[in-house]
Amino acid sequence: MKAMDFTGKSVIVTGGARGIGRAIVNAFAEAGADVAIGDFRLDEAKATALEISEASGRHVVAIHTDVTKLEDVHHLRDETLRLFGKIDVLVNSAGWDKLLPFVKTTPDMWDRVIAINFKGVVHTCHTILPHMSERKQGAIVNLSSDTARVGSFGEAIYAASKAAVIAFSKTLAREHARDKIRVNAVCPGLVDTPLIEEMKQDEFTHKILDSIVNFIPFKRLGRPEEIAAMVVFLASDAASYITGQAISVNGGLNMVG
Ligand SMILES: NC(=O)c1ccc[n+]([C@@H]2O[C@H](COP(=O)([O-])OP(=O)(O)OC[C@H]3O[C@@H](n4cnc5c(N)ncnc54)[C@H](O)[C@@H]3O)[C@@H](O)[C@H]2O)c1
Repeated sequence: MKAMDFTGKSVIVTGGARGIGRAIVNAFAEAGADVAIGDFRLDEAKATALEISEASGRHVVAIHTDVTKLEDVHHLRDETLRLFGKIDVLVNSAGWDKLLPFVKTTPDMWDRVIAINFKGVVHTCHTILPHMSERKQGAIVNLSSDTARVGSFGEAIYAASKAAVIAFSKTLAREHARDKIRVNAVCPGLVDTPLIEEMKQDEFTHKILDSIVNFIPFKRLGRPEEIAAMVVFLASDAASYITGQAISVNGGLNMVG
């Protein structure tokens, strides 16, 4: 489909070293885009970039970025512009979570969750939107979560940070529609990624995550590429009339409309 062709486009994916972000990098490269991965796992990001670049024939690069640090995000923008000359699409997939009942959480944890999941998105959007506004084109897709829409046991601050991402995305969509920039959020349910594997090392989390699978109508976790497909669609011209939306990809776990 021509509207889903990204030949000649330049894409930034934060958190692209692994998990959902990696699948997003792969999907954009397969669709013809050049991709810059902004991730603080630099070795993993470099390996991902090399593998996807070799398979797709596209330029895929890894740029060390901690999204909680504004200066790193400025560097990510500057390097991408130096290498590719423009930024057509920004995808924010960097994220982090740890399950714990709210009263057992600590201020350090609140700060970390909010810094990565919400402020990281604020940093990239604030840094890259002026470039997109000047060119009067662009698409931003932010990874939120179904937890933002329905709440989730043991994820009070995480769910709140992801709800902030939705409200933030909707506001940017309103402010930048005149610049022909579309901003949307994708809300995954439970997806099989390294993050989920790491979280399952904890017994409490293991029990909760295993029990959730029974409530998924498809009775399985999502695959990263199933989230990537929605992200690429929303960033593409096929979604030219879609902005300010939060769209779940969750195997039917929640049906919130
Ligand atoms: N896996 C799920 O079930 C699920 C569900 C809902 C939402 N999400 C969201 O999807 C996104 C991807 O999650 P995932 O499961 O693929 O996680 P993951 O841990 O497998 O991958 C996340 C990537 O983000 C990077 N990252 C983390 N903190 C960073 C920082 N400060 N700066 C730069 N990079 C950073 C990591 O290095 C990693 O490469 C996250 O935003 C997550 O909250 C995941």
